[in-house]
Amino acid sequence: MSAFLHLRDPDNPENANAGNGGDLVKHTALLTMTQHLVRQPRWRDALRIRECHAGRGVYLVGDGDPRRASMKTLLESALLLGEAQRAALTRVGAFETEGAYAGSSLLLDEAAPHAALHEAYEWDPKTRAILRGVARATGRSTWSIVGGDEQRVDGESLIARQVGQWDDRDLVVLDPFGLWRHAKHAFRRARYRRLIERWAGMRSRPNLFVFFTWGQDARGEARDLAHDRALFRRVWGPVDSMHPAPYGPAVVDGYRSLRALAAPLLRLRWNWDLRCVVWLAVSEAQLEPLRRALELELDALFGSLAPSDAWAELSMVYGPR
Ligand SMILES: C[S@@+](CC[C@H](N)C(=O)[O-])C[C@H]1O[C@@H](n2cnc3c(N)ncnc32)[C@H](O)[C@@H]1O
Repeated sequence: MSAFLHLRDPDNPENANAGNGGDLVKHTALLTMTQHLVRQPRWRDALRIRECHAGRGVYLVGDGDPRRASMKTLLESALLLGEAQRAALTRVGAFETEGAYAGSSLLLDEAAPHAALHEAYEWDPKTRAILRGVARATGRSTWSIVGGDEQRVDGESLIARQVGQWDDRDLVVLDPFGLWRHAKHAFRRARYRRLIERWAGMRSRPNLFVFFTWGQDARGEARDLAHDRALFRRVWGPVDSMHPAPYGPAVVDGYRSLRALAAPLLRLRWNWDLRCVVWLAVSEAQLEPLRRALELELDALFGSLAPSDAWAELSMVYGPR
């Protein structure tokens, strides 16, 4: 067994989510977008991946866990994600390990083998140590994993500070998981606001992939997606009766205020184990071809693996609203 598979990061919440429906869709969308870019001359050798919330590269899902059934079908399938999982796990010597699932970082490496750079930011030193092992096992020299062995790395702040110096050769991937409900996360939402503000004001904007989830909180999602208070009131009743959190009025720097800053983008919403959304931003000329590519891959994934109550909605969102 590869040495990194013996390392543990017990505080990593993704260990409980890797390979669930939220991940299968997120990772399919991430692969589709990355492949779409690197198939074109502009990005083939020049793509610079700036991946925040990189995670551990390879996750281990325990025996008897319900995720194992869909992972098995996935690994035997011809789906984009199935093929990428097989290739990526094989590359790092983890394909034969029961319950192994390649996370975003390893999948990005697989999808963009000629990338100029794969800069990975991961908060937790224990998770980062596993990612380092995975990166070494890929044999590629383009990895740059930010931070030493001990300290925490706040990639969100670093990216919010640096994004203005990047351009359309960069692919910025943000995967902060849940962010909306708690007052204690207000400072992180403000950070995202700064990041998106800077990004939206750029002439040559980096490509952007931002994943958010509301967990299983469908009401929270409806609240954040509601276009105005009137719609929210019609759907869920008077706003003021909704205290306390999580059903209170829309949070400061919440989903809607971030969305209001953004330029044209594709929005993918889905419900499969979790309520999730991804924003995918590419240059305007690339939006429609990327939408078609996503539709194809998502149809295939949902057609072969999704439970009957799962759904996804892909829309093109033009400009701030
Ligand atoms: C949802 S998981 C990432 C999953 C991974 N992107 C994947 O799809 O395989 C979130 C990760 O972000 C890390 N994290 C949380 N806050 C962070 C921050 N400010 N900067 C960098 N990483 C952070 C956590 O330690 C955790 O490993």
